[in-house]
Amino acid sequence: MSIAVYVPRDSAAVSVGAAEVAEAIARIAALRKLEITLVRNGSRGMFWLEPLVEVATPAGRIAYGPVAERDVAGLFDAGFLEGGAHRLRLGPTEDIPYLKNQERLTFARVGITDPISLADYEQHGGWRGLRAALAMQGPEIVEQVTASGLRGRGGAAFPAGIKWRTVLATAADQKYVVCNADEGDSGTFSDRMIMEGDPFVLIEGMAIAALAVGATLGYIYLRSEYPDAERTLYAALAAARDAGFLGPDILGSGKAFDIDIRRGAGAYICGEETAMLDSLEGKRGMVRPKPPLPAIAGLFGKPTVINNVITLASVPIILDKGARFYADYGMGRSRGTLPFQLAGNLQHGGLVEKAFGLTLRELLYDFGGGSATGRPLRAVQVGGPLGQYLPVGKFDTPLDYEAFAAAGGMVGHGGIVAFDDAVDMAWMARYAMEFCAIESCGKCTPCRIGSVRGVEVIDKVRHGERRPQNLALLRDLCDTMTHGSLCAMGGLTPGPVLSALEHFPEDFGITGPAPTTAKRS
Ligand SMILES: Cc1cc2nc3c(=O)[nH]c(=O)nc-3n(C[C@H](O)[C@H](O)[C@H](O)COP(=O)(O)O)c2cc1C
Ligand code: SF4
Repeated sequence: MSIAVYVPRDSAAVSVGAAEVAEAIARIAALRKLEITLVRNGSRGMFWLEPLVEVATPAGRIAYGPVAERDVAGLFDAGFLEGGAHRLRLGPTEDIPYLKNQERLTFARVGITDPISLADYEQHGGWRGLRAALAMQGPEIVEQVTASGLRGRGGAAFPAGIKWRTVLATAADQKYVVCNADEGDSGTFSDRMIMEGDPFVLIEGMAIAALAVGATLGYIYLRSEYPDAERTLYAALAAARDAGFLGPDILGSGKAFDIDIRRGAGAYICGEETAMLDSLEGKRGMVRPKPPLPAIAGLFGKPTVINNVITLASVPIILDKGARFYADYGMGRSRGTLPFQLAGNLQHGGLVEKAFGLTLRELLYDFGGGSATGRPLRAVQVGGPLGQYLPVGKFDTPLDYEAFAAAGGMVGHGGIVAFDDAVDMAWMARYAMEFCAIESCGKCTPCRIGSVRGVEVIDKVRHGERRPQNLALLRDLCDTMTHGSLCAMGGLTPGPVLSALEHFPEDFGITGPAPTTAKRS
């Protein structure tokens, strides 16, 4: 009987040698005349254990990791195909605490199935949400999504159902569903992991959105740095089309929907939804003023649902198990789960899907294992490059959109980047401004000019040049950017700058209270 051996195809695993490990396993099995079925699965999201090799045994899957190519012969000698003892043996995969303590709804299949096997997808609950949606009218689907409490996972946390309702209510000869897969935030990779590890769930979510609002065409705007995701998505789209889940007549329903991929332009601002629309239309990605909302006049001026990958990938389970099932997870107005991404100076970087409400401390220490360097953690940036820097005193804040905002933070796309006590927070504030200067689309003055001036002023502060005056000027500048910028790029850049200043004043050479207004001379 053929034994299934799993080696991830996920690019994080491939970047540390998974392809070579898979090749060595196939070669040695052939040499030793052992019958195996090699499955290139998605990653389980425990990056410090990659390449993580799993073997299907009668007692469940047994994990070994991190496996290097040179370990493979020894694994065969140790009888790893039967789950044999070896120094890299981790035991049953599902019992590894990092995985066991998660609540995987959106990521339920990632790492378990073969990402491009339709049969595997179907066997593990795939297409049930779409089938349920096909039996409903558009308003009913929208109602389910609204009742689930699902909010946009791309950053702004806008209720998905309300956005869909607007598109549904807007009459047009053509409507679109656009999936925002630009994933530009620092320390984030959940979109990529879904697209590489379970692409059908995204396709299913987009098809449900299309049925809900009456759209017939969808685009995935894919970050150009994700070639592996692109290959996997194309393979999955072709398979879904061949099997009738996409195309002119979805599962014989008479309803049409198809999806194409557009590679991103490699600019952070192209993740902002209106700049993304410009880019999709073949123009340079520049932010459009709102109104009109994309839900009313979006792609090519037509009503368009724009949602993040994780938002859309969360929809199938809602339609399958019901709004109530999903809404039972979470706290306050943050319902369901969020796939948090642990990055930066942590021992155990990776993906942790949990219901909203756990604290930052639990993520950093219980899952993340503290800093990788062994030094104390000092600051954490949550929510990408526009997120605030949070000090140790804020680590007990629950991860919930409202509670986090009240504590001066931003959950955003759930990216968490940790820094130990060697970090220079004045330098990080400078970096935030510099990032904005580099990535600004240039449309409005507070952001285009303000960010350049911001770097200059922070440099003066760092070098001790007229420090009180320049600090006051920096605050004034941040105020102008916050209130005068056209979009959140310029509007939120002051967040990391001012939080660094507030929580780590000593890094800016401040010993007493800083002046709050500029004295102009
Ligand atoms: C500067 C900037 C960059 C953004 N980048 C992304 C991104 O990479 N991916 C994403 O899904 N949303 C991004 N957004 C948010 C989008 O504008 C938009 O809110 C989101 O795609 C809507 O989907 P959601 O409601 O499902 O979150 C960005 C916003 C701004 C202001
Ligand atoms: S805030 Fe920056 S990125 Fe946004 S529109 Fe203005 S210049 Fe463009």
